[in-house]
Amino acid sequence: MRDKQQIRNVFMPLPPGVIRDSIVSFLSTECSDASIADITSAVRSRVGEVSGSSVRSYLSLNSPDVFERTGRGRYRLLSPESTQKQGKLKILAPETIARVGNATLYNADCFDWLDDQPQNSIHAVVTDPPYGLIEYSKKETEKLRSGKGGVWRIPPSFDGHQRAPLPRFTILNDEDRRELSVFFHRLGTALARVAVPGANILVASNPLLSHIVAGAMAQSGLEIRGYISRQVMTMRGGDRPKNAHEEFDDVSVMPRSQWEPWVMLRKPLDGRVQDNLRRWGTGGFKRISEDRPFGDLIRSHPTPALEKKIAPHPSLKPQAFMRHLVRAVLPLGEGVVLDPFMGGGSTLAAANVVGYQSVGIELDKNFFEMAKTSVEQLTNVVVRESP
Ligand SMILES: C[S@@+](CC[C@H](N)C(=O)[O-])C[C@H]1O[C@@H](n2cnc3c(N)ncnc32)[C@H](O)[C@@H]1O
Repeated sequence: MRDKQQIRNVFMPLPPGVIRDSIVSFLSTECSDASIADITSAVRSRVGEVSGSSVRSYLSLNSPDVFERTGRGRYRLLSPESTQKQGKLKILAPETIARVGNATLYNADCFDWLDDQPQNSIHAVVTDPPYGLIEYSKKETEKLRSGKGGVWRIPPSFDGHQRAPLPRFTILNDEDRRELSVFFHRLGTALARVAVPGANILVASNPLLSHIVAGAMAQSGLEIRGYISRQVMTMRGGDRPKNAHEEFDDVSVMPRSQWEPWVMLRKPLDGRVQDNLRRWGTGGFKRISEDRPFGDLIRSHPTPALEKKIAPHPSLKPQAFMRHLVRAVLPLGEGVVLDPFMGGGSTLAAANVVGYQSVGIELDKNFFEMAKTSVEQLTNVVVRESP
C-alpha cells in the first residue's frame, strides 16, 4: 500500500491551461507589455497562489507561440490577431474565468475548451450532459425561463407541492437520437484525447437514452466499464394512459422510474493497473474504507431544497451523491476532475469538499454566473447521510 502521508504531500498542480489562460487574460487587457512581477500578481489575483517560476515557465518555455519577450523580465502577447487566426489561441476575457477554492470555472463551449487543452491532462470526468441535447439549446432555455413549455414539462403537483420542470425525453424522434449519437461520439473523442490513460469518465444519463450514450462513447476510444445506478425516486413514468386514465385506472404506461444510470467509461490503460497507477495516478476507484470497495449501486434522494435554493439549476445533482462519486474517481486522490457541462457546479463543489482540483465549463452565461456563487455555498453545505 502507498504511504498515505506521501500521497498527501504530492504537489497538486493547477488544472491545465489555467496559468496560461490567466496570463493571456491579463495581457489582453494591457495595451502593451508587462513585467513578470505584474503578470505574476495578476495571475495570483485570478487563480490564487502560484509560484513565480510557474508563471515564468509559461511565459518563456511552455507557450512560445503565445508570449513574446520584449525586454529584460517583460512580456506581451505575441500578436494576438495572428495567433488567433492560426487557431493557436483563443483570448479569454477575464469575466469568463473564475476560481472558487480548488475549482476553476470557465464560461465557454466545452468542445472549444477541450480542443485547447494538452493531451493527457485530465484525470477524471464526472458530468451530467444535456443528453436530450435540445433541452439546453437557447430556444428551450428561454422557454424554460419564461415557463412556456417546449421540451420542459411541469410534472403534476404532488402532496400540494409544485414540481420543478423536467425535460421530456419521450418526444425525441429518430433524427434527434442520431444527433445525440453524433454528439456523444464527438464528446468521447475529445475526452479520450485530454484524459490520461486509466481516467474514469462517468456520464449521467437516463434509462431511455443510456444505450445511445454508451454506444457512441464506446466507439470513440473509451472502454465501457459498466453502469452506476443512482437509486432515486424520480417523477418520471408511472402515469395512466393519457385521456383514458379512468378506463384503464390500474395501468401505468411506464414504470415509475426509481433509478438513474451513470455510464461508466475508462480511457484504456497504459500497461497493467499497477503500472498505470504509478505513472498516471489513475486506473481504479478509491475505496470507501479498507473493507469496503466503491460500489455501483448508490442510494440517493432528490436534490434537497436547500441546495436547489443555492443553485436553482433545473438539473442540479445532490451533494451527498456527488461527493461520494467524485471522491471515488481519483483512486489516489491526486489529479484534476473535469465537468465539461458544469451547470450549477455540483461536481466542482463536491471536488472542493474532498480536496481535489477541478475544472468546470458552462456555455450559458446565466448558469456560469450562478455557479460562481453557488460552488462556494454548495461546498459549505453539511450533508448528514452518506450513501
Ligand atoms: C444537465 S446540466 C448539468 C447540471 C449539473 N450537473 C448541476 O448539478 O448543476 C447540463 C449543462 O450543460 C450546459 N451546456 C450545454 N451545452 C454545453 C457546451 N457545449 N459546453 C458547455 N456547457 C454546455 C447547459 O447549459 C447546462 O447547464
